[in-house]
Amino acid sequence: MKGLVCKVCGYVALDGNKDQCPICLAENEFEEKEDACKMPDFKAVSGETEKKHIPYFTIVKECGIICGVGCVDVHVKIGEILHPSLPEHHITEVTFYVDNKFVSNVMFTSNVNPATVIHLKDGTKGKVQVIENCNIHGKWYNEVEIK
Ligand SMILES: [Fe+2]
Repeated sequence: MKGLVCKVCGYVALDGNKDQCPICLAENEFEEKEDACKMPDFKAVSGETEKKHIPYFTIVKECGIICGVGCVDVHVKIGEILHPSLPEHHITEVTFYVDNKFVSNVMFTSNVNPATVIHLKDGTKGKVQVIENCNIHGKWYNEVEIK
């Protein structure tokens, strides 16, 4: 998948904004890359490498943590077959977007399992997109529609 990538930290600007990186705050350090992240043909995913890297979503509309306000919880697990979490091979981060706008970045070490959750505000609708980064196999994309 083609995209704008921060030369300093590797963040992918899905919204095309190249003024400032929201992760490392570098200014005007973006470059266009043909292979910004892998976007597999999801209807034809059969390989183990793909199944271990594609972000896998579970949406929960009844939040068990933030009561009274309301949430749309987007759980992300990497991947359908759980990715290894070893010092030499692990997921380093998961970046969340809603309708191409950056909303959150979660960093990982090999001390945690490759899964996280974001508590979007109640009533959030649109396309939630995730790009995860594996220290060996690079960046992988997936998306889910919140209705
Ligand atoms: Fe990997």
